[in-house]
Amino acid sequence: MNAGELLSLCKRRGFIWPSFEIYGGVAGMYDYGPLGSVLKENIIRLWRQAYRYGEGFTEIDSVTINPEAVFKASGHLDEFSDCIVYCNECGEPFRADHLVARLHPNPDTLDAKSLKELIREHDVTCPECGGTLGDVEEFNLMFRTFIGPGSSRIGYLRPETAQGIFVNFPNLYRYNREKLPLGVIQQGRGYRNEISPRQGMIRLREFNMMEVELFVDPENKTWPRYPFVKEEMLRLIPNDGVERVMSLDGAVREGVIANEVLAYFIWLTKDLLVKMGVDPARLHFRQHLSEEMAHYATDCWDAEVLISYGWTEIVGIADRGSWDLTQHAKWSHEDMTHFKRYDEPHEVEQKVIKAKHSKLGPRFKEDAKEITNLIESCQAEDIKDGALQIEHNGKPLTISDEFFEVETLIRKVSGEKVIPHVIEPSYGLDRIFYTILEHAYHKRDDDYTVLKLKPILAPIKVGVFPLMARDGLDEKAQEIFRLLMDAGIEAYYDDSGSIGKRYARMDEIGTPWCVTIDYETLEEGRGKKDTVTIRDRDSTKQIRVPIDKLVKTIHTMLNGVNFESI
Ligand code: GLY
Repeated sequence: MNAGELLSLCKRRGFIWPSFEIYGGVAGMYDYGPLGSVLKENIIRLWRQAYRYGEGFTEIDSVTINPEAVFKASGHLDEFSDCIVYCNECGEPFRADHLVARLHPNPDTLDAKSLKELIREHDVTCPECGGTLGDVEEFNLMFRTFIGPGSSRIGYLRPETAQGIFVNFPNLYRYNREKLPLGVIQQGRGYRNEISPRQGMIRLREFNMMEVELFVDPENKTWPRYPFVKEEMLRLIPNDGVERVMSLDGAVREGVIANEVLAYFIWLTKDLLVKMGVDPARLHFRQHLSEEMAHYATDCWDAEVLISYGWTEIVGIADRGSWDLTQHAKWSHEDMTHFKRYDEPHEVEQKVIKAKHSKLGPRFKEDAKEITNLIESCQAEDIKDGALQIEHNGKPLTISDEFFEVETLIRKVSGEKVIPHVIEPSYGLDRIFYTILEHAYHKRDDDYTVLKLKPILAPIKVGVFPLMARDGLDEKAQEIFRLLMDAGIEAYYDDSGSIGKRYARMDEIGTPWCVTIDYETLEEGRGKKDTVTIRDRDSTKQIRVPIDKLVKTIHTMLNGVNFESI
């Protein structure tokens, strides 16, 4: 299949629509239609289930417009850019690395100067009009705005939800009763002013993210659930480029994955994506090359899937080290540390400088007290060649060791302050949404499409059809439609066209089951009164169930019990 076929189905059936279509559309922007909104909501629900209920993480919802200081601190103002080049003739902008994609194995690792050289060396011209290209420049991807009237308070639309969690670290840490690990999730919009987005839902200017920021003790990157999954297998491409299938534990022991926490969340991501319907045979985890890593990351693994655009990143699992909290502490002057209490207090030796009053008094007279304070505020490491250099009355003064001595004290300390490290599984919701649709897309015949969506994600769970729209079958079908909807099961009533056509309409949007109300449902004395048929999308088989067991049967199947075993 190609992306065009799927996008056309999505548009026709109300999954997604290009935004502002009546005005000609805007590249890199899509609206979710009625079916798409529900599918998206169902994806978020599974993600939330894994992290909030499964791992006990907390969830927040922070604002999307941030003041400039946040991105000065986070590094996005200085670092978050792509290289842009304009055509000298038609003025069209291009991402410079895309123009040299066939000339270099990893063009996105090149800086502006190298890209410019490559373009000149190979005489690369404008793909639109064949014109010559201008200079390569850095282009910051953040959308700029103003907060309040006037132009003095610059703000930016957030390029990631993560910063909303980092700036709230002191609040979150208190909420977690000052303990680590601290896991926080946030789902919502992110904005990146992409230079020239051309890949459908894969590169969006306004997009949806599901992010997880896990704050851990830098010296304890272990995870309590790791032992239960450590023998699970992962398909990995480490940064040496050699693909390996390894157990989590094998990968950690051999140093392929740096630590247990990272390994655990790579596994959790795989498990979650597969539960959502991503084909495991078209999924691997690839480690970033050091030149490819975002400015904040010390290590990063991407979940990549094979879709019609080629291998595409849909989740990034990064070790952000102490970058974010260190930066925000520096720029905000707030304490972003964790107090790590020792099991037993540690005894530490401390060397302190003591002034010799008997010597200082006669030598420095009325200044002796002030000089005593200056001497005693020095550290032992400040002593050079047996003397201290201090500043007194704005002048340098050398104090020889006849005026002080060094004493060794033993102190008890109960803990130390550390800046937590951050492990970040960051999920690109729109890309996951698109992948799920592509991997679910099947052709039964040339013109018969079945979306084999996982039932738990399908926007509509049950199609409800009266065999005929008369003879009381329609009223009974309406009753059953209400019964399902009242039980929280998303149903769709359809009484038009042949049953075959109605099945086809539901198969095309991934509805896992269809319930038909026929004459036997109404007939007395046949033993089948008040029963309906349930038809299964994937096997096309049918079973007959009593109406009073219908809701329970659907719930059982939604909980994962196979149609064949009902
Ligand atoms: N927070 C990860 C990203 O922006 O891609």
